[in-house]
Amino acid sequence: MAEGVRYAISDLLTKGHFVNTILDGKSLITGETIAAGLGRTLDDRSEAFETARAELALILHTTQQQISQQKAPAEIIQPLMARLEAMRLRLHADVWRALAPIIQNHPVLDYFLEDPLTRWSFEKPRGYSGDAQLLDYIYCDPHVAESIESASETGKALYGYTQNVPSCVAARERRDLLTRYVDEIAAKRGAQTEVLAIAAGHLREAKRSVALREGRLKRWVALDQDPQSVGLIARDFAGTAVETIDGSVRTLLARSHKLGTFDFIYASGLYDYLQDKVAVKLTKTCLRMLKPGGTFLFANYAEGNPDAGYRETFMNWVLLLRSEADMWNIINASVDRNDVEARVYFGENHNVLYAAVEMRG
Ligand SMILES: C[S@@+](CC[C@H](N)C(=O)[O-])C[C@H]1O[C@@H](n2cnc3c(N)ncnc32)[C@H](O)[C@@H]1O
Repeated sequence: MAEGVRYAISDLLTKGHFVNTILDGKSLITGETIAAGLGRTLDDRSEAFETARAELALILHTTQQQISQQKAPAEIIQPLMARLEAMRLRLHADVWRALAPIIQNHPVLDYFLEDPLTRWSFEKPRGYSGDAQLLDYIYCDPHVAESIESASETGKALYGYTQNVPSCVAARERRDLLTRYVDEIAAKRGAQTEVLAIAAGHLREAKRSVALREGRLKRWVALDQDPQSVGLIARDFAGTAVETIDGSVRTLLARSHKLGTFDFIYASGLYDYLQDKVAVKLTKTCLRMLKPGGTFLFANYAEGNPDAGYRETFMNWVLLLRSEADMWNIINASVDRNDVEARVYFGENHNVLYAAVEMRG
């Protein structure tokens, strides 16, 4: 057992337990939420956990040896990620989750925290997981260039690896897909096109939008619960059709914003935190806010994402991964399928699923 830490397997929860429902800034996932779920001190550790703990100890020991031998960072992190993922896939979810604090309290962690992406995710400077600046590290946005520049050589080398893992490639694909959606919808529906981004982060997809640049949008509303992110959008897109709203999913659900209707509404990097019940509520609300012929798109990381083992432990960033069936369940619980054209599909590298729901015109 890791020094002084004891885990209660029976207290560890099934899929979704650590993925707290996001309703507003107060209920976002934080390290504390996760730790609170794991920090109990009961005695019923299972044999499976003991075996897994021993296997993990060996993996961490090997990694530590490789670090002392000054192996190239990519040669250290690559097999580590693969071994963690293999364990994650093989173990019961409860047992896997119980291993996270062991990794997070192991001296080997410091080495990986030299990577600015891992560090930002692990430390959660904004107080919650998956903030817009974390996405900037993934997008390799100039906003974080200085921070990367000031990282150690090891940190830079690790970042060279982590920024290109499948989930990060998929996030960049997702950003670019959103830009294409906006541009294509604007081209089809004309200068009155109205767009709503829910949980907009830094709205990086807008940077490359030709429709926005050429003034072919009526408005692109960006809603986020983090005032810092909203402030950055307001500054970066001043004088354009972009409008910002400091608001949460909860306020949107209550429809207090009186936002009007839209040609395109999307949520990227949000459903990965929402349990089905809230996801359905949000989907229903968004569909009600569409104009005839309008489209609602939501993205979700897909089951089978191969870097989840590292992300959930070293990065302390847990996402609710969904299957195609899970995506369809949300759609089917939200709308009469006779009223819409719906499609669920994988992104290019198969790590993100998209659900596109178009209201019949
Ligand atoms: C992973 S980022 C995604 C940002 C952006 N959509 C993208 O794809 O790059 C998640 C964003 O969701 C926002 N968020 C989280 N919970 C929210 C909530 N309940 N209401 C509104 N925004 C929320 C966070 O502030 C953060 O900016």
